[in-house]
Amino acid sequence: MLTKTHRGVRAVALSTVFVGGLAAFAAAAQPNAEVLHWWTSGGEAKAAAALKADFEANGGKWNDMAVAGGGGDAAMTVLRSRVLAGDPPAAAQIKGPNIQDWAKQGALGSLDKVAAAENWDKVLPPQISSIMKFNGKYVAVPVNVHRIDWFWANPQVLAKVGATEAPKTWDEFNALADKLKAAGITPLAHGGQPWQDATIFETVVMGLNGAAFFKKAFVDLDDATLRSDGMVKVFDQMRKIRGYVDKDFPGREWNAATQMVMNGTAAMQLMGDWAKGEFLAAGKVPGKDFLCAPAPTQNGYLMNVDSFAMFNVKGDDKQAGQMLLAKLIVGEKFQETFNTYKGSIPARLGVPKDKFDACALKSMDDLNATIASGTLMPSMAHEMATSGAVRGAVLDVVTQHFNSSMTSADAAKKLADAVKLAK
Ligand code: BGC
Repeated sequence: MLTKTHRGVRAVALSTVFVGGLAAFAAAAQPNAEVLHWWTSGGEAKAAAALKADFEANGGKWNDMAVAGGGGDAAMTVLRSRVLAGDPPAAAQIKGPNIQDWAKQGALGSLDKVAAAENWDKVLPPQISSIMKFNGKYVAVPVNVHRIDWFWANPQVLAKVGATEAPKTWDEFNALADKLKAAGITPLAHGGQPWQDATIFETVVMGLNGAAFFKKAFVDLDDATLRSDGMVKVFDQMRKIRGYVDKDFPGREWNAATQMVMNGTAAMQLMGDWAKGEFLAAGKVPGKDFLCAPAPTQNGYLMNVDSFAMFNVKGDDKQAGQMLLAKLIVGEKFQETFNTYKGSIPARLGVPKDKFDACALKSMDDLNATIASGTLMPSMAHEMATSGAVRGAVLDVVTQHFNSSMTSADAAKKLADAVKLAK
């Protein structure tokens, strides 16, 4: 007969067997991940499909949670509501200081085990690994490095006004744009959405004032810099640019703007190199059908690193999915395939360069050069530089100015005031 103690021991023993059984079951459970991202354009979708294919080839079950909308603002709204509802996706595409914010709130799982097993500290450059860590521990995994400050141009259209290359200074840009306009050609393909306005704006900030100014304005959030004459000049240039876009620009998606350069209805686009993914997906050849050239930024580089963070989710299958996804993302082969589709360059070291085109090689060289010269800057428009609140405040002013007759002086003042309130 069993005494109470015996019964207790037996109960423990049984439950151990049961838990052991569950663990064995869990170990065999198929890794599963719901992945929230905003890669829905032609080039983006091809790149996302490569990640899905790699995940599935390694036994994972991919649950796609694509939220359309360039720049990811719509995706971030969905993410916030999912987390608030206590139902976060296993993996979400988030970036820069947002990673730290979510980690601070205790929403993210640790990736340290995978990071140690896969040697992330060795294979990721410190400029990237530092963004992925919170309190010294990995909470996100980097996919790529996108460069923001690029011109994408149609050489046949440029040729109509005798130009053979993209402009090298903002004065050259204005002169070329005036010529194009006089010839009845839209100089700049643009989509009037706050993040696209800000993409142009931050490039002009670097172009007219250089990296040290950019850092003071958007990393240090220095009030005097934000309301300085240098910033007033940036708004002057934004006003000029407003005169170089077509009348149908409001609300246009960025990839529709890329399409305009492709089909020759506009000469150039100022956009991050996901635009290259779009040209490539349409079968266009760099150097022939389209030109890539860094925009004038005083030898700077605006960096945008896509990454995934793994949210705290229950279920061994989901946790196994998160670990598998994180491991695969940093893999050499994956980084090669994904980035050749996406238009970006690898986030990790040691990926062979032979599959990358001249635009990507230029990005790799300039990234190294600007790390050495200290002119590598985190993109403000793409959430690498500031908190979401400050970015939102900047975007509001930039967009308001672009779509009204606000003076440059008023815009610089509003910008400084808005940042002061938001920080
Ligand atoms: C992301 C890119 C994406 C682009 C347009 C950027 O913020 O970093 O991966 O292609 O937005 O959606």
